[in-house]
Amino acid sequence: MYKIAVMPGDGTGPEVVKEGLKVLAHVSKKFGFKYTTKNFDCGGERYLKTGQTITDQEIADLKTFDAIYLGAIGHPDVKPGILEQGILLKTRFALDQYINLRPVKLYNQAFCPLKDKTPEDVDFVVVRENSEGLYKGMGEFQNKGTADEVAIQISYNTRKGVERCIRYAFEYTKKRNKRKNLTLCGKTNVLTFAWDLWKRTFDEVAKEYPDVTTDYAHVDATTMWFVKNPEWFDVIVTDNMFGDIITDLGAMVQGGMGIAAGGNLNPQGVSMYEPIGGSAPKYTGKNVINPLAAICSVGMLLEISLNEVKAAKAIEDAVIKIVRNDLKSLSAGKMGYSTTEIGDLVVKNI
Ligand code: IPM
Ligand code: MN
Repeated sequence: MYKIAVMPGDGTGPEVVKEGLKVLAHVSKKFGFKYTTKNFDCGGERYLKTGQTITDQEIADLKTFDAIYLGAIGHPDVKPGILEQGILLKTRFALDQYINLRPVKLYNQAFCPLKDKTPEDVDFVVVRENSEGLYKGMGEFQNKGTADEVAIQISYNTRKGVERCIRYAFEYTKKRNKRKNLTLCGKTNVLTFAWDLWKRTFDEVAKEYPDVTTDYAHVDATTMWFVKNPEWFDVIVTDNMFGDIITDLGAMVQGGMGIAAGGNLNPQGVSMYEPIGGSAPKYTGKNVINPLAAICSVGMLLEISLNEVKAAKAIEDAVIKIVRNDLKSLSAGKMGYSTTEIGDLVVKNI
């Protein structure tokens, strides 16, 4: 009996999570596994009422689950940063989810904004470090509010933190067994402290993986190659900030935020899966948002945290089918189907 924590969150989060749970219920019957869910009511509405983000008690409770399923965090009436830091980043850090795994996979050429790129060309995975770097929240103001103000934001990188991420990426590249190529995406030519550590660690760990070929690309060049030659990539490993930026571009290249899923992983602990698109307030409650990213997140949860590989594969196959044959677009309101109808379509195709 698996225990799954569900945090629908803000905006369209609850709507897409509902479709993900619909698909989960279906595959659990079909593939014969059982689970319970517990709802965690974290998000903007509760914060506005109570001033609470996520409590230490809730964090302690989350640690007892097999996996966490998250919708979206972010509310238009709450100052940017409060919910993101108070809920999303707090959970990532408290549960030491040090990997953010973001597959970039195009399912239908018609939805790729890049000319002449096919599903064979756009199929790579970004391994984003998820616990350090600029996200550590280190820094200070000096002379705040004066003409001499200075704002310092520190990128904090530990050997242990960098090494565990790089090791995960090498292992993942080996296991993925596609081209067995791992690219380090960084900025060694300017950020000479952080990226010196990353590059040295990468080169050292690489020696233990003679069957994995390696590359290095600066982050600015990486964004260029994503558009020009996405087929060059197999697995990419990068830091927290660069990973955040390049995976939004990755999402566009794979057809849009509506299909982009991700996992915040603690390979030794509790991981959290989420559509990477955010709370999309303008589409909230309209039954028009694309739930496929949330449904694909359920697939990742099943594969990685519960080892229900067949159920995960069945979800992906169904998603591929409807993205190829049924949907007019992957964007909210233009899909030719409503949010709930897409959930039903996935179920029907499993
Ligand atoms: C993401 C999001 C978050 C991040 C925000 C909401 C804090 O953009 O998951 O990519 O920057 O990590
Ligand atoms: Mn982001």
